[in-house]
Amino acid sequence: MKGQGMTAQASSSYRSRIAGTGSYLPEKLLTNADLEKLVDTSDAWIVERTGIRQRHIAAPDQAMTDLALIAAQRALEAAGTTAQEIDFSLCCTASADQPMPSAACVLQHKLGARPVGALDIAAACSGFVYGLTIADQFVRSGMYKNVLVVGAEVLHRYVNYKERDTCILFGDGAGAVVVQRAKDDQESKVYSAHLAADGSLGDLFILAAGGSKMPFSQEVLETNSQYLKMKGREIFKNAVRTMSNLCQEALDANEMKMDQVDWLIPHQANLRIIDAVGSYFGIPPEKVVVNVQDTGNTSAATIPIALDEAVRDGRIKRGQNVLLTAFGAGLTSGSLLMRY
Ligand code: ACO
Repeated sequence: MKGQGMTAQASSSYRSRIAGTGSYLPEKLLTNADLEKLVDTSDAWIVERTGIRQRHIAAPDQAMTDLALIAAQRALEAAGTTAQEIDFSLCCTASADQPMPSAACVLQHKLGARPVGALDIAAACSGFVYGLTIADQFVRSGMYKNVLVVGAEVLHRYVNYKERDTCILFGDGAGAVVVQRAKDDQESKVYSAHLAADGSLGDLFILAAGGSKMPFSQEVLETNSQYLKMKGREIFKNAVRTMSNLCQEALDANEMKMDQVDWLIPHQANLRIIDAVGSYFGIPPEKVVVNVQDTGNTSAATIPIALDEAVRDGRIKRGQNVLLTAFGAGLTSGSLLMRY
């Protein structure tokens, strides 16, 4: 294994193509002014340290798969296909509706898809890059022709709105893509993907309760273990280093330079992290897709939402090179370079 990430690279005659994208953000907004009323913070501090101005928050009756459903339906429509055509689906999330059954199974039922394979990807904020890598491999191997990949989160339900270092960061949302086998005259492809994880840093960002190690109890509530806990400064440093390294690996694996990349879509966690990765490569800011100011950190959903927005508003065009990179709890990380 060279470098930090494990590489998946083109090897068969099949290529995959993102045939359609979709996203959904809940209507309700949580602004910095709203947060000023909940914790000791200020709009100026939040904007300066994170770039975030607002986040979308799911309604009380909206589960994660309800957001995922709308994003998936939009992606299917954009791809000119239907749920019936899907051969396999992946749901990338850290906030599934419940531990069992999986979010992918719940979503499959809501979509009215055929009873084909459906799988959750638990790689936190890197989930979508992991999911897209797996979908590409399924298509490339010839096993499936249509794979649905959704990144969706309702993270606000794991946020302690009394803790100012975490409550300012997270929002809810969903993004989806339909990955199809490319036809001969379609030039899209995934050049390579690079995935990594470092479990020794798992304590930097953790949701301790709700699993088999710490099932719900009175003690969980008394210790606030049902909420996300984070060592922000360490994550920040690790995120910049990891995403920069994995982007460099993607470029090296394909003997490309960053100026051959048309768009960088980094995980939208914090504008300063995004800027630091951009400036490491000297990328002009206008080539970096950024929406964190309007969405906050939606974990596995940030990249597919940003991708969908940039495709729909015409920034990202067919034939362009797009580099995705993410990091998240685990700590997981990944990059994927594709010709859209
Ligand atoms: N308002 C005002 N002051 C605050 C706030 C707030 N909301 N939050 C923290 N502070 C204070 C701290 O208490 C600290 O005060 P002190 O110096 O008196 O102790 C001071 O601000 C500086 O704190 P730092 O933690 O050093 O601030 P930093 O510049 O690192 O910004 C932040 C904090 C925004 C959390 C940043 O570290 C960050 O974004 N880290 C990455 C977090 C992240 O991306 N997490 C998710 C990763 S995985 C995934 O995406 C799912």
